[in-house]
Amino acid sequence: MAKKPLHFRLNGAEKAVFVDEGQNLLDVLRRGVGDLTPKYGCGQGACGTCTVLVDGEPHLSCLTLAEAVEGRRITTTGGLAQGNQLHPLQTAFMENFAAQCGYCTPGMLMAAKALLDRNPSPTRQEVVEAISGNICRCTGYEPIINAILEAAKSRGARQYG
Ligand code: FES
Ligand code: FES
Repeated sequence: MAKKPLHFRLNGAEKAVFVDEGQNLLDVLRRGVGDLTPKYGCGQGACGTCTVLVDGEPHLSCLTLAEAVEGRRITTTGGLAQGNQLHPLQTAFMENFAAQCGYCTPGMLMAAKALLDRNPSPTRQEVVEAISGNICRCTGYEPIINAILEAAKSRGARQYG
């Protein structure tokens, strides 16, 4: 099968790869450029653990054609921390025990980041709606919702990365 060149920016770094026709973004991120932070869950758009941001908007990378992100900006959980400094959402997830097995966590974090970037002070209901496409089998969701609300509160004068 003919390969096509693809260029995009991943967590601030330029990437250039060759992709197969029809290859999805999750596969390119994990196998093509070695970012293992977005997870493969269902592969069918049903679980949300593969969520990444494309130009700041949440997308299910298992359903996103790689060629659709030509020239675009991709953010994954791997790009949240700044050096040793965790993102406020990551800190809040830890402090609220919002990750148990952790398999849903990358997708939850990216859905939460997209929410707080556009709505810094969400209501509980808005948080619930923002993560409604993300399945968690462990926590019962309450610790995750609490963590996102706490991260919003702790934002203060800081800007999220
Ligand atoms: S792996 Fe993409 S939604 Fe489940
Ligand atoms: S922490 Fe296990 S699926 Fe969410």
